[in-house]
Amino acid sequence: MAAAANVSVATVSRALQRPEIVSEATRLHIQEVVKRLGYTPNALARNLRTARTRLIVALLPDIANPFFSQVIRGIEQVAHENGYSVLLGETQSSLVREQAYADMVAARQADGIITMSHRVPAIPMQGRLPVVNACEYVKDQQISSVYVDNVTAARAAVDYLVTLGHRDIAFVAGPPASPICIDREQGYRLALDAAGLPCNPALTAVGDFSIEAGERAIELLLSQGQSFTAVFCSNDEMAIGAMRALASRGLRVPQDISVVGFDDIRFSRYMTPALTTIAQPKNALGREAMSMLIELLNDPEVPPRKRVLSADLVVRGSTAPCPAGKT
Ligand code: RIB
Repeated sequence: MAAAANVSVATVSRALQRPEIVSEATRLHIQEVVKRLGYTPNALARNLRTARTRLIVALLPDIANPFFSQVIRGIEQVAHENGYSVLLGETQSSLVREQAYADMVAARQADGIITMSHRVPAIPMQGRLPVVNACEYVKDQQISSVYVDNVTAARAAVDYLVTLGHRDIAFVAGPPASPICIDREQGYRLALDAAGLPCNPALTAVGDFSIEAGERAIELLLSQGQSFTAVFCSNDEMAIGAMRALASRGLRVPQDISVVGFDDIRFSRYMTPALTTIAQPKNALGREAMSMLIELLNDPEVPPRKRVLSADLVVRGSTAPCPAGKT
């Protein structure tokens, strides 16, 4: 290949494996020679030489949650553009499953991991772990992460309910072990504080991000006789469950109770009423996580960083002014 293209072996190798670092003219020239010669890189030989598998593991807690499919699409796009394949590992938040995938990296069956969980599995390796955290973050400063500003986004959601005149705003929290869930709760509290509203702990119920958990949370609050005119849910799936629980009690959304979610999964805009929510940049989260991992695999000395993206409120039909007589 190198002889046919009249360049060095190293240039061919760079053009095929890290096209971003060669000039466009060289890349196009080599691509043309590759095509002309019908060359197929021998992956096995290449892996033996570089000790790379060009396979990465994407760990996600719940494959049925559509939020993650869009993040994974972003991961896959950048992986494909850079000659990597992606192995999906659904962990169902099990430490044992997470560890089994982490062991693949230690055994050099995969190059690295993007985890969408709030913890990072232990990999018995020396030096910097080839791990990036997506959508979540951990306190460990050595682990690079990309996630949204959950405090600001949650606050924007609750501020909006306040502007609609709501005073009794319930909160369906996510798993308390996750820093992003703590941040969403902080955003909820900050908005109440800023409006001079008391934060009533009896109006908070906790869920595990599933539709069923959202349903159970609202049933619990209603069965306790709690009175509220709006509810902010820590993700869209729980908001969908909440809406179902409200409907089964004959409560109308948004006329009686306003509902806000978080994520902006695809289904949210197609529901009746469509869900007001916080739109997370799901594709960008995935793309950035994969870029960070590639950067780290290419240069283990690259400084770790926490990249925070913004998330925006999308107003739809599930929210309305507080009913008369309840403000
Ligand atoms: O819906 C799943 C949730 O878990 C999302 O809100 C996301 O931020 C994630 O970590």
